[in-house]
Amino acid sequence: MCGIFGYLNYLVKRDRRFIADILINGLHRLEYRGYDSSGIAFDGDDVEGSDTKQSLKSRRACVVVRQKGKVEELEHVVRSLENIDWDAEFTVHVGIAHTRWATHGEPNAVNSHPQRSDEQNQFVCVHNGIITNYKDIKQYLTNKGYKFESETDTEVVVKLVKYLYDKHKNENISFQKLIEMACSQLEGAFALLFKSTHFPGELCATRRGSPMVIGVKCADQLATSHIPVMFSKDLFNHQNSKDSRNDIQLVETTSANLRGVFSPPLMITDQSASELAVTGNDRSIEYYFASDASAIIEHTNQVIFMEDDDLAVVKNGALTIHRTQHGEVTGQSAIREIHELKIELQQIMKGNYKYFMQKEIYEQPESVVNTMRGRVNFSAKKVVLGGIKDYINEIRRCRRLILIACGTSYHSAVATRQLLEELSELPVMVELASDFLDRSTPVFRDDVCIFVSQSGETADTILALRYCKQRGALIVGFTNTVGSSISRESHCGVHINAGPEIGVASTKAYTSQFLALVLFGLVLSEDSISKEPRRKAIIDGLQQLADLIKKVLECDKKIREYAEALYKESSLLVMGRGFNFATCLEGALKLKELTYMHSEGILAGELKHGPLAMVDHLMPIVMIVMDDPVKTKCMNAYSQVQARGGQPIIICNEDDEELIKLTSRHIAIPRTVDCLQGILCVVPMQLLSFHIAVLRGYDVDCPRNLAKSVTTA
Ligand code: F6R
Repeated sequence: MCGIFGYLNYLVKRDRRFIADILINGLHRLEYRGYDSSGIAFDGDDVEGSDTKQSLKSRRACVVVRQKGKVEELEHVVRSLENIDWDAEFTVHVGIAHTRWATHGEPNAVNSHPQRSDEQNQFVCVHNGIITNYKDIKQYLTNKGYKFESETDTEVVVKLVKYLYDKHKNENISFQKLIEMACSQLEGAFALLFKSTHFPGELCATRRGSPMVIGVKCADQLATSHIPVMFSKDLFNHQNSKDSRNDIQLVETTSANLRGVFSPPLMITDQSASELAVTGNDRSIEYYFASDASAIIEHTNQVIFMEDDDLAVVKNGALTIHRTQHGEVTGQSAIREIHELKIELQQIMKGNYKYFMQKEIYEQPESVVNTMRGRVNFSAKKVVLGGIKDYINEIRRCRRLILIACGTSYHSAVATRQLLEELSELPVMVELASDFLDRSTPVFRDDVCIFVSQSGETADTILALRYCKQRGALIVGFTNTVGSSISRESHCGVHINAGPEIGVASTKAYTSQFLALVLFGLVLSEDSISKEPRRKAIIDGLQQLADLIKKVLECDKKIREYAEALYKESSLLVMGRGFNFATCLEGALKLKELTYMHSEGILAGELKHGPLAMVDHLMPIVMIVMDDPVKTKCMNAYSQVQARGGQPIIICNEDDEELIKLTSRHIAIPRTVDCLQGILCVVPMQLLSFHIAVLRGYDVDCPRNLAKSVTTA
C-alpha cells in the first residue's frame, strides 16, 4: 500500500514554502499506508521552452525530490534544498507527492515516487497499486530506445505518457487524452496522479482498484452537501465526449444544482484548449487529491470519491471527471457527488470502523488478494514467487526447512507446517526464535532457515537469523515490511503484502503470512507430478478465499452475541487439532493480549493428558471441529468435554448438518480445502477476542504492556 497526495491552487496566491508544506503534511497523514520512502514534485523556475506548442514563451521547470526513509527525512532534505526561492508566489500551481510501501524494487531514492519521464521531469507521476503488465510495456519502450532508471512499474507508466506525447504533440493533444490513452494500456490496480511541464496548472488523476478522493475548497465555499457534479454515463458515451470542451459544456448544461459551489470555476469562456488564459467569473479554488480523506479533512470537508475508471482533470481551475473507455463498470453511480464529511481525522483513517484492529479484520478479503496478486495464475494453476525463484532448486535440495518466528508469526508457521511437509517431503521444524537461541540449536550449511515476521524488526527473530547466517544456512525472509532488517539481511524472500498493520494485535498479517507460506509450499512441489491434483485443489481453494472470508465476516453479529455471554468470564479454553491446532494457539493469543483473560490453545489430542482436569460445567470453551481427516478425533474430544459438563461453542463447517444438529452453540463457516481452512477459522476467533475486549472496555488497538514491534530481545 502507498499513499498519494496532490494539491492544486487556482487564483489563490501561494508561495512555494506553503505548497511544499501542504504536500509534506499530506504525506505525514498518509504515512500509515507505507513509509519506506517518499517524494514530492513542485514547480521550479521558468525555463525557455523549446519543444512546447503552448503559447507561453517559457515553461516552468519541475523539481522532484525523493528520499528513502520516513517522511520526516524527505522533509529535512526539502528544507535544506539550495537555490530554491521559497518565497516565490504562484497563483496557479500543481504539486504531487507520495509515500511508498515498496512492491517493485527496493526502497531507495530512485525507486521512490514521483517517477519521471526524463531528466527534465516533463511528466511526473505518483502511483498506488501494481501494474501487472509493466514488463511488456517496458520491453516495448526499451525497443523504442527508452532507458529506465528505476526498478518500478510506475516509471513505465510515466514513460509511456511521454512516448505518446512525443508521438502526438503536433496534433495539439490534451493532457486528458494523453492520460486516457496511456491508461487504456495498463493492467492491474492503480491510482495515479500526473503533472507535466507541458500542461502547467493542469492535473490528471485516475483510478482502477486503488482509492482516490478529491477535496474541493472554494474561497467562499457554500456548505452544500450531496450536489451532483458530473455527468451521467450516457453523457460520457456522447460521441464527442473525448473533447474536454464538450465535457465542460455538458456539465454546465446538465447540472443545474452545480452552480452553488462550482459554477464560476467551471465557466471557461476562452475555449481554446491550448491556451492557459481563463477569463470570466474566475473564482479562487483549491483541490486536494489523496488516497484517503485523512489527508484532506484538515483543508476541506467537501470531497468527491472517485470510482474505478474515472479520469479527473483539473484545467483552468475547472474540475471535470471523464469515464475512460477501459473497463465497463456496471452498477456504478451515474453521478459523482460532493460529500460533506462530518468526521474527525482519526475516524477517517479508520474508515467506517471504530478501531484499526476491526478495520484490519475486515480488510482480510482484500489483503489475501494482495498477497496473491501477480503470483497465482488461477487458469494455468501455477504459482510464482519472484523473490525466491532463483533459490528454489537450492531450497528443494536442503537437509530441512526450519521456520523461526515469534508470537502470531510463529503460529502462521505452525499452521502451515503440515502442508509444507506434505508438499516438500522435507523435514520441517518450527521454532520460537527466543527458544531456538536459548538452545543454541545446531544449524548446518544445507539447512534452509525461514524467518517469518510482520514488522521484519523483531529482535529475537533478527538474532536467530544472524545466528543461522553465521552457520552458512540459506536465509529466507517472509515479512510485511520491505526494507526491514529481516528483509535486508535475508538471502531471498517473500513480501506478504498485507499492507500496514496498525492494530498491535496481528490479524491480517497472520492470514497473509499463512497464505504466503502455502504459496511457498506450492512452489516447492511444482516439480512433482503426483502432487498435481492436490496443488490444483489448493489453487482452486485460493481463488475462492476472499469470498469465503467475506462470508465468515457475516457471522460477526452472532459472534458478538457469544462475546456478550462470555465477557465477564475469567478464562476461555480453545481446543482443536490437525490443521487447526495453530488456530487454537492464535485464537488464545488474541484473547490473552486483547481481553487480558486467561486463555489456552489446547491440542485436542492432549486433553486427557492433563487439560481435561480444568473442564467442568463452568469452564467456557471454544472447540474447532472441521469436517476434515481429524474430525472423528475432534468429536471424541467433544464427547469427553461434554461428559464433564462442558458446553463448548463449536466452530464448524456450515454444511456439516450432523454436527450442527448436535448443538445450537455453534459458529458455522464455509468449507474450503483442509489446509486453507485455518485462514477461515481464525476470523471468528479474531472477532470474538475483539468484541470481548470492547465489552470489557479495553483499548483494542493498543493493549497494555505491548508494542507493535518488539525491537529488544
Ligand atoms: C500478536 C502479535 C505478536 C507478533 C510478534 C512477532 O498479535 O502481533 O505476537 O506476532 O511480536 O512480531 P513480528 O511478526 O513483527 O515479528
